[in-house]
Amino acid sequence: MRILIIGGDGYLGWPTAMHFAQRGHEVAVLDNMIKRRWESELGVAPLWPIATLTERAQALRETTDREVEVFVGDVADKSVVRGVLSRFLPEAIVHYGEQPSAPFSMIDAEHAILSQANNVLGTLQLAFAMHDIVPDAHLIKLGTMGEYGTPNIDIEEGYLEIEHNGRRDRLPFPKSPGSFYHLSKVHDSHNLMFAAKLWNLRITDLNQGVVYGTTTDETAMDPRLATSFHYDEYFGTVINRFVAQAVAGMPLTVYGAGGQKRGYLNIRDTLQCVEIAAMNPASAGEFRVFNQFTEQFTIDELANLVVEAAAKQGIRAEKKSIPNPRMELENHHYNARNSGLIALGLQPHRLTVDVLAGMIAWAAQHPERISRDVIIPTVQWRKQPEGVREA
Ligand SMILES: NC(=O)c1ccc[n+]([C@@H]2O[C@H](COP(=O)([O-])OP(=O)(O)OC[C@H]3O[C@@H](n4cnc5c(N)ncnc54)[C@H](O)[C@@H]3O)[C@@H](O)[C@H]2O)c1
Repeated sequence: MRILIIGGDGYLGWPTAMHFAQRGHEVAVLDNMIKRRWESELGVAPLWPIATLTERAQALRETTDREVEVFVGDVADKSVVRGVLSRFLPEAIVHYGEQPSAPFSMIDAEHAILSQANNVLGTLQLAFAMHDIVPDAHLIKLGTMGEYGTPNIDIEEGYLEIEHNGRRDRLPFPKSPGSFYHLSKVHDSHNLMFAAKLWNLRITDLNQGVVYGTTTDETAMDPRLATSFHYDEYFGTVINRFVAQAVAGMPLTVYGAGGQKRGYLNIRDTLQCVEIAAMNPASAGEFRVFNQFTEQFTIDELANLVVEAAAKQGIRAEKKSIPNPRMELENHHYNARNSGLIALGLQPHRLTVDVLAGMIAWAAQHPERISRDVIIPTVQWRKQPEGVREA
């Protein structure tokens, strides 16, 4: 299959590209390297320096004889996206190429607008280009479980059967996201649902949970094939952040009492899920939704697991509650369905103390690389916009 990975320089995009290439697919990646620019603007960096995309493609060729074709450009640029689709003629497109951080989108007006413009316009540009150039290709779009928020009912996979005033319908599950980033994904979902119906496109929306992990079969083949590991307040997801704090001898900062429950998955399972989606495409005109996570934990449960894993590595870690900078409920119902991908064959990797101990050992190879200044949250959700004074 010819598979285009948009956002192929990213944490998930690069391992996905290698995963498909290793299975004999023809793979191309498109990325405009904007994430690397945002990192340097914010003064953060992955734990390990990451080779450039071209260097990584070269290293993959040397290690495996597999090719990944590299396109550099912005998916929101009409001529770029149309040029790439016309030249590569993908049968499947995995779209990771968005601004991925909630705190980044909550810094100020510029970052909120940039996040939504980048994400929503890029996806829209891609949908129009698919309609004109590859209308039969299958789009696999990364959304997030955060689109749903934390409703006081079980979360279904994309749709809800409801009865209202004596009539029944299957409607999109109500969305109640908690940041301008998560809202960008909701806007994407709405635009894509309409595009699938309008143009008969095949679309799978993967509402992904929080990803953790450092290693896949392919990243482990050569140090130059590593993927980025962020632990900072903007791009570091919570498990990765706790691991870095344990290694740096800092307390694990739990927001509030840590009762917030969410879905999580190992990076290896992201690759499995995307592959399963690609091998079982949506039908023409179908906007299919899967909830892509394998387990649910509260923040406090995760912190406890990391404390236990650190002890296995001879590190005494401790938890510390700090005021929650986000706008989220502390005690809430959370029970999300995730049966769609499992029914298609997903075999989950579980988050165990041993898995976490392995991540800690990996990060502990160079504790001096961890910058302690970039972990504690500075972005506050409820900060007054500039120029507004309290009454
Ligand atoms: N990592 C997670 O825990 C997680 C959880 C849920 C959803 N997601 C989603 O999965 C996707 C990938 O996440 P990630 O953690 O790999 O993020 P990442 O930032 O590491 O990767 C995204 C890549 O997309 C590129 N990109 C951004 N805008 C682009 C544009 N306009 N044109 C071309 N390239 C562009 C960036 O340069 C970057 O390399 C994102 O859409 C993210 O929202 C991630």
